[in-house]
Amino acid sequence: MLTIANLFVKPPVGETVDIAGWLRTRRDTGSFSFLEINDGSCLANLQVIADSSLTNYQEEIKKLSAGCSLAVRGRLQASPAKGQTVELLAESVCVLGWADAATYPLQKKRHSLEFLREICHLRPRANTLAAVARVRSRLALAIHEFFHERGFIQVQTPIITTSDCEGAGEMFQIAPQSDGRHFFGKPAGLTVSGQLQAEVYALALGKVYTFGPTFRAENSNTSRHLAEFWMVEPEMAFCDLAGDMVVATTLLKYAINDALNHCAADLALFDSFIEKGLLDKLRAIAERDFVHFTYDEAIEKLLAAPVKFASPPRWGIDLQSEHERWLAEELCKAPVLLTDYPAAIKPFYMRLSDDQRTVAAMDILVPGIGEIIGGSQREERLPVLEQRMRAAGMNLDDYQWYLDLRRFGSVPHAGFGLGFERLVQLVTGMANIRDVIAFPRAPGLAPC
Ligand code: 4AD
Ligand code: MG
Repeated sequence: MLTIANLFVKPPVGETVDIAGWLRTRRDTGSFSFLEINDGSCLANLQVIADSSLTNYQEEIKKLSAGCSLAVRGRLQASPAKGQTVELLAESVCVLGWADAATYPLQKKRHSLEFLREICHLRPRANTLAAVARVRSRLALAIHEFFHERGFIQVQTPIITTSDCEGAGEMFQIAPQSDGRHFFGKPAGLTVSGQLQAEVYALALGKVYTFGPTFRAENSNTSRHLAEFWMVEPEMAFCDLAGDMVVATTLLKYAINDALNHCAADLALFDSFIEKGLLDKLRAIAERDFVHFTYDEAIEKLLAAPVKFASPPRWGIDLQSEHERWLAEELCKAPVLLTDYPAAIKPFYMRLSDDQRTVAAMDILVPGIGEIIGGSQREERLPVLEQRMRAAGMNLDDYQWYLDLRRFGSVPHAGFGLGFERLVQLVTGMANIRDVIAFPRAPGLAPC
């Protein structure tokens, strides 16, 4: 069966076609009804003309309301109406499922995103959320294409792990079995990042990436944090920080260009109703160079900023969202690449620089969101890595497998993590991260 999107791309005018979808509105005029049908394949509805001569016209068609599901067979014809090229003259309209008009929550008016969040099971039938789902799907495809075209191998890293990659204590713990024993012989949890395992494969296959769910028991109820989110993590052998930055910026631009090229109607909706100027913003990000500051330079800029931050900037602090956003939104009005962070605020695996006080780290900050990418060159020198792990209070016995990568054929390597939901936020302009994932998980929030 054709989707409505298929029909609009190359309308088989004059032919009989079958479509199926959900009714948005019904309007009766004299001897027929106009039925607006949406099947989720694109933003536009298909107008169906149901004539009173149809056998179920009085009994069923005249009783249809928003949300009913229908299968329609009819002849496609050019439409005289404004705003649509074709319409379907129904030969049969079969009601697949009724939706009670008095209780169906999605009425014709626009609903607030807060209200839609309360009905996660029905919200993809709303235009905005359906558009988000389509753009999200397209972005995922673009990411796979980007890596495929460049010879990266996709690796599925584990969801259950015994290594807390970021060392921030945010790993969801798996409870012991009812007999009190750990199923895996030691405490395990849900992964906060696939990086450490991706490094294993990069040091065998060269260029790899993971694209999977990650979990953080972070108690942050913000518009940029989820407890379950998806991360894209490339890892490249024979690569330093400069090479890492090139891949990260090229990937971001590629994904944005892909969405601009393939999601025009959905992005136009976001540009009109969600973030005015979104299309111009995206084109600018895709075309212009990103600004590059070292952490030292960023701190200087923040100290000289004509604004009062809730958390005063000084060398050595982990930059807060307000700092990141000021740099990207106010100072540069563009994405910012920040490199060379203090070693003390970054995880053990980042490569210690010759100055002994910073690491070869990079973050990319974007307007409206702040950090969208975090990455680094990895510490490939065994003694330095061991020392960093000890300083971080880690038990080296648990990480012999990771240290082996430095014992046997160690090479310079680098990678990064792109927060997939933050990318979807950037591209759609959606302000709240809970609106760019189908079933958001946050503290106290997991209704189904
Ligand atoms: O900066 P992060 O913590 O980096 C890592 O996990 C590295 N191991 C990645 C790597 O080098 N392979 O996370 C990477 C990105 C962030 O920049 C952000 O976009 C996103 O993941 N992110 C979150 N997105 C939604 N909700 C959260 N709670 C997030 N925490 C991080
Ligand atoms: Mg980070």
